Amino acid sequence: MLTLGIESTCDETGAAVVRDGKTILSNVVASSARVHAKFGGVFPELAARGHAEVIRPVVEEALLRAGVRGEELDLIAVARGPGLIGSLLVGLQFAKGLSIAWDKPLIGVNHVEAHLVAAMMTTESLPLPALGLVLSGGHTLMLQILAPGEYLHIGTTRDDAIGEAFDKVGSLLGLPYPGGPEVEKLARQGDPRKVPLSAGQVKGHPLDFSFSGLKTGVLYAMKRGVYERADVAASFQETAFRDVVEKATVAMKQFGCRALVLGGGVCNNLRLKELMQEIGVPVFFPTAEMTLDNAAMIAGLGTQQFLRTKRSDPLDLEAIPRIAVV
Ligand code: KG4
Ligand code: ZN
Repeated sequence: MLTLGIESTCDETGAAVVRDGKTILSNVVASSARVHAKFGGVFPELAARGHAEVIRPVVEEALLRAGVRGEELDLIAVARGPGLIGSLLVGLQFAKGLSIAWDKPLIGVNHVEAHLVAAMMTTESLPLPALGLVLSGGHTLMLQILAPGEYLHIGTTRDDAIGEAFDKVGSLLGLPYPGGPEVEKLARQGDPRKVPLSAGQVKGHPLDFSFSGLKTGVLYAMKRGVYERADVAASFQETAFRDVVEKATVAMKQFGCRALVLGGGVCNNLRLKELMQEIGVPVFFPTAEMTLDNAAMIAGLGTQQFLRTKRSDPLDLEAIPRIAVV
């Protein structure tokens, strides 16, 4: 079964061809991140225009690299949300057009769920129930994975997403956007015990997250002018990750989870990988090409969903800027 995936929720335009929901034949990503760098965050209108410009060549390149003609596809999967409305519409309209032109079924998937499926797509035997953690620029989500497509919500962030906190701290430290990878690099030269910081706890919801106070803590530490930037970066990173690991450990016990599945851009961070591995259960990370926003994960989830539900979506499928996994 050959599925074309299309991703355009934020500033990455992606197209991928995946066989049987598992084997990635191609995974092409064009990012407009450079355009947004001077704004310190994604500029929605420019992101939408970026998608409109490159979506056709990106899809053509994905088919070419996979050695597949449009007529040979069995399914077209597209991310319908969550994301920026203008960006979502470009991907959705293009996917609908292809579905009509090639007479192929269309399926809309949830982008955040796809981040989780990224690590599961290539895993033969995942012990269930598992704890799923999506740590990205737009989302911080913890859920229990009961079966493919069957989840229970455990916790989420009350304010900033963890990747967003990395990006904002990066900007406080004078680092280029996106700050996540830069903060990690700087943190390697610093001492994580130098700057006293704490992550937010949400009253009455011990498994929810809050990173905005931590970010303000970094701002005040910088204002004091007594700390090395590398020590601030290291202390912030360690505080944020230890909070995630502690809450994940509590959730694992409480929900009887036997494994950990991670997804989202922040999973590129090597310190996070080290800390997660210390929990002592099998941990599944996506491969590098499946960590940041990409269309292979959209195709993977689309295939699973189509085979499980035996249903495709109608052509009036709508983009949903805010849509929860559970
Ligand atoms: O999954 P993703 O592409 O976007 C969303 O769907 O939101 O993740 C991008 C986020 C950015 O906030 C970026 O700074 C962060 O992932 N990120 C990292 C690292 N690499 C990317 N954060 C911490 N350490 C990294 N090495
Ligand atoms: Zn994402």
